[in-house]
Amino acid sequence: MHSKLEILILAAGKGTRMRSDLPKVLHKLAGKPLLGHVVDTAHALGAAQTCVVYGFGGEAVPQAMADDKLTFVLQAEQHGTGHAVKQALPQLSDDSVTLVLYGDVPLTHTRTLRPLVTAAQAGKLGLLTVKLAQPDGYGRIVRDADGRVRRIVEHKDATPAERAIHEVNTGILAVETRHLRRWIDELKNDNAQGEYYLTDIIALAVRDGLTVETDHPAFEWEVLGVNSKAQLAELERIHQGEIARALLDAGVTLMDPARLDVRGTLTCGRDVVIDVNCVFEGLVELGDSVQVGANCVLRNVKVAAGTRIDAFTLVDDAVIGEANRLGPFSRIRPGTSLARDVHVGNFVEIKNSQIDDGSKINHLSYVGDTTMGKRVNIGAGTITCNYDGANKHRTVIEDDVFVGSDTQLVAPVTVGQGATLGAGTTLTRDAPAGELTLSRAKQLTVNGWKRPVKQKKEG
Ligand code: UD1
Ligand code: CA
Repeated sequence: MHSKLEILILAAGKGTRMRSDLPKVLHKLAGKPLLGHVVDTAHALGAAQTCVVYGFGGEAVPQAMADDKLTFVLQAEQHGTGHAVKQALPQLSDDSVTLVLYGDVPLTHTRTLRPLVTAAQAGKLGLLTVKLAQPDGYGRIVRDADGRVRRIVEHKDATPAERAIHEVNTGILAVETRHLRRWIDELKNDNAQGEYYLTDIIALAVRDGLTVETDHPAFEWEVLGVNSKAQLAELERIHQGEIARALLDAGVTLMDPARLDVRGTLTCGRDVVIDVNCVFEGLVELGDSVQVGANCVLRNVKVAAGTRIDAFTLVDDAVIGEANRLGPFSRIRPGTSLARDVHVGNFVEIKNSQIDDGSKINHLSYVGDTTMGKRVNIGAGTITCNYDGANKHRTVIEDDVFVGSDTQLVAPVTVGQGATLGAGTTLTRDAPAGELTLSRAKQLTVNGWKRPVKQKKEG
């Protein structure tokens, strides 16, 4: 039986270089706080407990991350990574192994971390290290003549010879919790920074005869931390590149993989085509053969097979059926569902409405709080007046209705099946099924009327 895994996420640092009032770990990468990415990794590894050490920004971190699977421990003053671990130790059990992660290192793969956990479960200390061309600032891995790890020396405490070492500490390590507890109590702060260094436990492990096993990430960016907005932007691009790569591997056509932003989860069927500069937020599902034009934003949307969304369309919290045509320049707002073969054209806004099969709203209209039947045709410039200044009311438009252009439907109002509304109508009462209803001032012609002409100024 393997001992259970407990994960400690260090997230107390201030992040001065972010130049922000928001705690560093709450800054977002792909629409999710940095810490959220690390918490997801912890859950994916099947941690029995995940403990977050927070400090700077006070309760903002636990509040933003509220999750009943997380334990939060306050490190009121930051006296180093060893001190941070010490605050959390009372929460951890003796029969577990502890994996230490960092709230500002968001992109580590679970496949990079698993070997460390396995090493710890086998009684070793698993340490993630990486060779960097520019190792400045990092703790260096000091090995003996046989290549065995002896200790870590922090940059500020290192000799010139040690600073020449390119293998650095990522900070990520795993070991049995009972050892960690013992070693943390032995840490001293007699070093260049006057801090309790977690890294000093490596020498203690060696002293106690443990094997230090080093593993390495497949990619350097897996262990990069965020200390500035520039580094955040850099990791965002790397992460988006990875997402784009996965979509391409799954068969999605991306007109330019460098111009795609997924801030959530995007799942695609077969033969999906996505043009440039689209943003996908929350949970977005695109069915087979869906096409998304340039510059669209889709947030929490399900789009069924064969639908085409043309350029500059924004869809928010909606369900889009099969074989629809949306855009260009459509806006679909929350609570909307479109059935099959629905057409929504340019400068059309739809909110909290259900539109049934084959209906068309092609130009310059507002449809809000509406239930629309099948094969309805809405003329250009139609407005549902759903708000009386105090309350919202529904409009019901039954099957096969034809609404002429520039019509206002003052809700609550119902247009019966097969009815026609004449262009320019302001409908304030229900329109009977099958009939033509219109409200229109009688047209008149003034015979012989003359247009005024400009008078010549005298003098
Ligand atoms: C640490 C390592 C160094 C490694 C580097 C990798 C130590 C002593 N050094 O150095 O070997 O190469 O990370 O980036 O561990 N934190 C707390 N509480 C504290 C101090 C830090 O929660 O009291 C958190 C920070 O928020 C941060 C992480 O621990 O997420 C690392 O702290 P930082 O001060 O950046 O450590 P480094 O000096 O970079
Ligand atoms: Ca750091």
